[in-house]
Parts: sequence; structure tokens; C-alpha cells
Amino acid sequence: MSISTQAKPAFMVRDIPIANPLVLAPMEDVSNLAFRLICKRTANPGLMFTEFVSAMAIHYNAKKTLKKMKIHPDERPLGIQIFGGDPEIMAETAKVSEEMGADIVDINMGCWVPKVCRTGSGAALLKDPDHAERIVKSVVNAVKVPVTVKVRAGWDYSLFAAPELAKRFQGAGAQMLTLHARFAKQGFEGQADWELITKLRDVLTIPLIGNGDVKTPEDAIRMKSETGCDGVMVGRAAISNPWALARIQAGLTGQPIPAEPTLDQRIETALEHARLMIAHECEADSFEEAQTLAHFAEQEPRAIRALRGQLPLYIKAAPGSSVVRGKLSGVSTYNELESLLRDFQNSQHGEQI
Ligand SMILES: Cc1cc2nc3c(=O)[nH]c(=O)nc-3n(C[C@H](O)[C@H](O)[C@H](O)COP(=O)(O)O)c2cc1C
Repeated sequence: MSISTQAKPAFMVRDIPIANPLVLAPMEDVSNLAFRLICKRTANPGLMFTEFVSAMAIHYNAKKTLKKMKIHPDERPLGIQIFGGDPEIMAETAKVSEEMGADIVDINMGCWVPKVCRTGSGAALLKDPDHAERIVKSVVNAVKVPVTVKVRAGWDYSLFAAPELAKRFQGAGAQMLTLHARFAKQGFEGQADWELITKLRDVLTIPLIGNGDVKTPEDAIRMKSETGCDGVMVGRAAISNPWALARIQAGLTGQPIPAEPTLDQRIETALEHARLMIAHECEADSFEEAQTLAHFAEQEPRAIRALRGQLPLYIKAAPGSSVVRGKLSGVSTYNELESLLRDFQNSQHGEQI
């Protein structure tokens, strides 16, 4: 008799087993390859998504946008999230995502920001169920990989559109639905209303992922048990804090909750994040390789600038870090960054935060 050592997956996205219920959210200018690798190594989410990718930009062959679709083998299973309002252009971009190696193509119907909604994309689609369904069908027909959709509850409080949309998308072939439990008009105001997630559970046979305001293992466990969702998506709590993700993952899988990171761990991870980001911007396999490339000098400051909002957050909790945090916004090379952080580390004499 053979005994299987394969653990039972938390859920399946069609034929893709998702090992644990933690899902890393797509976040523009955050969920790039460097960030995802840091999250994967620290917290091993069952599933992760890229930041959203503009279908129109891919249609016009924007090189910068194609870079957002680059995948590392260590981060699988990975979904590439795309947005757009034209079914054919969305189908084209879904095919490109598949060619780039996406395990899943996710359609964004949750972005509420005017620059996206003005083009009939993102959450604007919540106002037009027929067109939204056309887009899902078109994308499903274009690719072999499973297609998933991320929605908000509706455009505004006057219509909880998600149940009807969810049914239609499931009928159109979507294989998983994520609900950010706010209405588009809310932006990030107020609390996410998890009851809205509960109301979708009975509508769907495909996996349902709950999202909104999960920061701790206790939040995640409560969301899962109160709503009956299959997975819990976490966004903001993970920014510069992959350890929060690791604690949530442990909570969701019944493992001991890991300790808070030390200052040394925070600094080493911030530096690793910067090295990965530089490699990503240079389209190199490693920081060391990036340093040998002709465009390193041009891409290095770009990569460091892109992390300007995130690097200071790594050490925010450390007493006396405000001066060094202020200086971090002025650095443009890895060496400057490392020397600032190492000086601060040495000044703390190994104190823990
Ligand atoms: C900086 C930032 C960028 C985001 N970009 C995207 C995006 O590209 N696609 C998307 O579906 N949602 C995006 N979101 C929304 C998140 O995926 C998530 O739904 C939201 O932050 C709520 O989850 P949280 O409370 O865990 O942060 C973004 C959120 C933030 C904070």
C-alpha cells in the first residue's frame, strides 16, 4: 500500500492545486517580481498575483508593461492580472499572459480609480453586467489556463451587483472569484463588510476568495470561518512586511505563529528587496549580473526610486529610525542604501524591534 505524502490542497483553481488559503493581492507598483519573491520566500502564499497589466498597453506593445508579466519559476502558481474594457483586446492580452507563463489569468473588475474607470475598465464594468460577462467569455475562450475575476461588491451602495455578476461569470467559465468587500465608490474608506462575502458563498460552486482589511492571523481565521470563503487575500498588510503574511499563513494553516522579525532581518530583507528590484529593472537574473550590464547605471536609480515608499516602512517600527527613514528618500544607488541601513543597524547595537 502506498501512502501519499502530498498534503491536501486548500482549494483548486480548476486543475491547479492551491496549497494553502493565503492569497497575495495584486497591487499596482507594489506586486512586482521582486516583491512577490520576497513574499514567497518569507510566507509561501498558496497563490499570488501580479499587479494589474493594461490590456491596451500590451496591445500597443509597451515594453515597460511587458516587464510586469515576467515570471520566476519559484513563484508558481501565479496569476497575471489584466484590465481593459474591450473583449478582443482583453483576449489578446490573456494570450500574451499565457505565453509569458501565467498559471492563471485574472480579470480586474475592482479598480475604482478614475484613470482606469474612465476607459470602461476595472470597476466601471460592475455597472454593465452584459459587457462584463462578454469580457469574461472572450478571455475564457482565448486561453487554456483558468480565468479568474476580482470584483468589488458593486459600483455604489445602491446596488450589490456582485451576486448576479458572480453567477454570470461562473456560467461564462470563470474558475475563481475574489471579492474585495467594498463598493467601488468607497475607494478605501470605511471597513470592508465581510457579510458581503458570506452572501456570495451560496451563489458559487467555484472557489471564493475574501478580501479586505485582513492584517493579522486572527482576522484571517475569522474571515474564513465567518464567511465560508476558500481563501483569504491580503494586500496592504504585506507591504514591507512579509512577516505579517507569514503569520497569517501560519494562522490559516494551524501552524505556530512565527515571532516578529528582528531589526537585522528587516534590514537584510529590505536590502534583498532592493537587489531583486534592480535585477528586475535590468531584466537580469541576479543583482550580480545586473551590475555587469551597460544599462545598470540607468536602471539602478529607477529601481531604488520605485521602492522609495516601501524601504522606509521596513524599519518604521525601530526606535530612532525617523532620521534614517527621511534620508532613504534621497538615495539613488544600492551602495548608498546599504551604507545608510548598515550605519543605522550598527548604531542600534543589535537592539531588537
Ligand atoms: C497600492 C495598491 C495598489 C493596488 N493595485 C491593485 C491592482 O493592481 N489590482 C487589483 O485588483 N487591486 C489592486 N489593489 C487592491 C488590493 O488588491 C486589495 O483588493 C485591497 O488593497 C484590499 O485588501 P487589503 O485590505 O488586504 O489591502 C491595490 C491596492 C493598493 C493598496
